[in-house]
Amino acid sequence: MSFKPKQIINFKAEDLIELQGSVTEVGIGYSLGFLPPFTEGDEVHDNACGFGAVTEMIMGRHPPAIRIYATDINKEFVQGCAELAKNNGWPVSTATMSAQELKFPDDKFTHSFTTFAFHCLGDHDTAAREVYRTLKPGGTAIASIWTSMPHVDALQHAHWLTRGREGPMPKLLPVEPFTESDLRRALETGGFKPENITCHTRQAFLTIPDLRRWAQLAWSYLGELPKPDEWSNGWSQRDEDKWDEAQADIVEQLDSGRGNFIAKNEKGETVLTMVACIAIATK
Ligand SMILES: C[S@@+](CC[C@H](N)C(=O)[O-])C[C@H]1O[C@@H](n2cnc3c(N)ncnc32)[C@H](O)[C@@H]1O
Repeated sequence: MSFKPKQIINFKAEDLIELQGSVTEVGIGYSLGFLPPFTEGDEVHDNACGFGAVTEMIMGRHPPAIRIYATDINKEFVQGCAELAKNNGWPVSTATMSAQELKFPDDKFTHSFTTFAFHCLGDHDTAAREVYRTLKPGGTAIASIWTSMPHVDALQHAHWLTRGREGPMPKLLPVEPFTESDLRRALETGGFKPENITCHTRQAFLTIPDLRRWAQLAWSYLGELPKPDEWSNGWSQRDEDKWDEAQADIVEQLDSGRGNFIAKNEKGETVLTMVACIAIATK
């Protein structure tokens, strides 16, 4: 079994929901607003599904008989998503699967969602090729990213403070921002024609009532270092020893880092302004 710091929160669906607040739902809601209603027989891919926020929102809107295929590289997330579907009796198939190697035939899906994931998938060009390959001609790909994530600077600061400047950054804390142009370029490399891609920008607000609790959740989920051959399992004894230092630094950065994208509301809660870019691409 790989090492985990004793302070770490072993993520369950409710922890991810607490970490993300309502921003994911708001972002997915915007994405769905750009699409015509689903119709009977639609086959939908929830690619890099996490705990199934897209699946949940689509199924929660009581569409007609459609099937969703929810996949993610993280088997615990896939399990969480499978349980969610089972508990609700939804027609959802789940599988642990890399976005770069989808085990689906060509031209299968009417819709392919890759929500808030393109910036952290690794090889996004190959992922885009797989989205294109598995989409039916005339089908729609919905690919979204966050172009403003004010917490990333705070977490990177804690990473550098406790681990030094050498070595890799956690996968979910990319140093280079992933922009609308990067998303467009990946989709075009994947096979989508530029004229068939439209991008939309929307804000969503993440309210953090308790910065200490949020720092604990955020570092547990986002602070893990990558291993060259795996997506996860990169914690060390040093991370356990310096856990409190990392926590204090994240709180300090978010508390003091006020600006356009970090503010306090009237209750004194910290509010982060996230900016979503949602690409809608047709094959
Ligand atoms: C920020 S989460 C977004 C999850 C979900 N789509 C949502 O909107 O809540 C990014 C997801 O990408 C998954 N992921 C990262 N690299 C992947 C890859 N190469 N193939 C498939 N999933 C991957 C992670 O496991 C994680 O669940």
